[in-house]
Amino acid sequence: MTASHAGDWRRTHTCGELRLADAGQTVTLNGWVHSRRDHGGIYFVDLRDRYGITQVTLAETISDAVHLSTEDVVSVRGTVVEREGKNKNTERETGDVEVAVAELVVLSKAKTPPFEVAGGDEPSIETRLRYRYIDLRRDGMQKNILYRARFISALRRAFEDQGFVDIETPILTKATPEGARDYLVPSRVHPGCFYALPQSPQIFKQILMVSGFDRYYQVAKCFRDEDLRADRQPDFTQLDLEMSFVEEDDVFAVWEKALTATFRDALGQELTTPFPRMRYDEAMARYGSDKPDTRFAMELVDVADWAKASEFRVFHGALDAGGHVKGITVKDGMSRLSTKTIKELTSFVGEFGARGLAFWKVGPDGGSGPLAKFVTGDLEAKLRETMAAEDGDLCLFVADAPKVVTRALGELRLRIGRDLGLAQGTWNFLWVTHFPLFEFDDDSGRWFSAHHPFTAPEDWELGGEGADPGSLASRAYDLVLNGWELGSGSIRIHRPDTQRRVFDLLGIGNEEQAEKFGFLLEALQYGAPPHGGFAMGIDRVVALTAGLDNIRDVIAFPKTTSAADLMCQAPSRVRPEQLDEVHIALTGRALQAAESSVEASGSDAS
Ligand code: AMO
Ligand code: AMP
Repeated sequence: MTASHAGDWRRTHTCGELRLADAGQTVTLNGWVHSRRDHGGIYFVDLRDRYGITQVTLAETISDAVHLSTEDVVSVRGTVVEREGKNKNTERETGDVEVAVAELVVLSKAKTPPFEVAGGDEPSIETRLRYRYIDLRRDGMQKNILYRARFISALRRAFEDQGFVDIETPILTKATPEGARDYLVPSRVHPGCFYALPQSPQIFKQILMVSGFDRYYQVAKCFRDEDLRADRQPDFTQLDLEMSFVEEDDVFAVWEKALTATFRDALGQELTTPFPRMRYDEAMARYGSDKPDTRFAMELVDVADWAKASEFRVFHGALDAGGHVKGITVKDGMSRLSTKTIKELTSFVGEFGARGLAFWKVGPDGGSGPLAKFVTGDLEAKLRETMAAEDGDLCLFVADAPKVVTRALGELRLRIGRDLGLAQGTWNFLWVTHFPLFEFDDDSGRWFSAHHPFTAPEDWELGGEGADPGSLASRAYDLVLNGWELGSGSIRIHRPDTQRRVFDLLGIGNEEQAEKFGFLLEALQYGAPPHGGFAMGIDRVVALTAGLDNIRDVIAFPKTTSAADLMCQAPSRVRPEQLDEVHIALTGRALQAAESSVEASGSDAS
């Protein structure tokens, strides 16, 4: 690039900085050509950088002015002038002034971008991710990324103010079980051996407690090979934390304090603490979810007693088979939900295994709908009372296996809440506590940890010999915000005997215990303090508080739902020599794919 402005093209001000008080000054601005308008002999250019936009004017006589195109990177030098009254732009902080340019240097030419930075049609997500560097120039994405930085920085301050020490843990490590598949990295030096990328720093942070660090935190990258959704990425970030000599209350208090400070700093909003708490069983019973959105009621109501007294065969059948009958009351549902919508909702609950959706339109003389003929005599008053229902309301019922009823009604409640715009307003934080220790997986026919295997049971003796694993409660907790699981944690097992028994109950034999967790079991024998902690998904909390429903919009370089980076084309093939070095030979589908890609490119794999 040719030098200029007599040797110094560098900016004196940013594009967000100039005000009326600067009028008359000679300034140099650097930035991107956001837009360019030709007003016959004079060009109006909006110059953009991350601080804002400043209008600059260029006479066509200025060299290169004619050739400017959007997204070129330029340096302009000129005089700040006050805009005439009617030309002032009140929507921009720099809108009182413009810069009359005397010299222009084009620092870098830009090809026509695949989509407009300044506005225009919304590009497809594939195009946005393929050209992420351009996508990130857009106002919304700039705001998201800067907001994320502010939020994390406020969080860090909030924990440091409470004496937490930032300690990094390794990325090349050994598997930590958090319920997903591991990303593996082959070792060159140890043929046939693999590192795993951490699903979380869980074991390391517990070991730091054994080492006496007492209050640890980290902004930690975690890696999980799992099915991706709007709230999941293969690599994501946690604010991870662990503390010694604590019980649940202490962990909650630290987080409530930190989140209050962070919401104040990053969002200018005050939170009310302590956050409410609810036991897992209660959350499931009232909301059909372990992450209830408590911004609206429409709670699940058990109508087993009513069902028993009624003549409705379907309900009796479900109860006789050990199932549940529950319902929800949609206030004024008769006018708000059409018969067609109720039909759609019936197939909606079907997705969660419910075999039907019985409804009752509450009104005089027993109301209407399929259930009405069973709502007679005393049974009408009883159902009205049970469901807290009044004329015009709509009651919806599912009778099925307990898990199906809970899930189907929990999802139905959310769907109706969303459709009717009930879920509005404030930040409803909620601690959900006392999760079960284990969950049975029907497919593999074995028990899994509901949280992770390092979570302390309520009862250190695990109910004694022969106890039903399904009946054991844990000391795990989640923090829920407006129906999103923001984070999870637990009080941990600091006793090696209990840790061994949990592994036993999970069907992890002695050999596997020694191989996978020997170092932890050993560490616990050298003086482990009682400890507990918590990790919050940063991508989730940032997205949610920014009003976004996909975490990819707060991640600079996210992956697609098939875990691909469309910009740098990762994952990608590697040269055979590289595979040799790490002692890997491709077989089966991988080999076929590699061979066909060599054929397609007509050269050796590169
Ligand atoms: P857990 O597995 O529940 O707990 O993870 C904690 C939080 O991390 C976020 N999270 C994710 N965010 C984006 N993409 C993902 N794929 C993803 N997976 C998880 C969620 C989640 O609530 N070691 C324990 C914590 C502890 O016990 O201290 C752990 O990782 O917001
Ligand atoms: P049926 O007697 O099967 O025709 O069903 C009568 C009404 O009960 C219909 O509105 C069905 O949608 C509803 N229904 C059927 N099975 C169930 C179920 N398991 N739970 C709730 N409602 C059901």
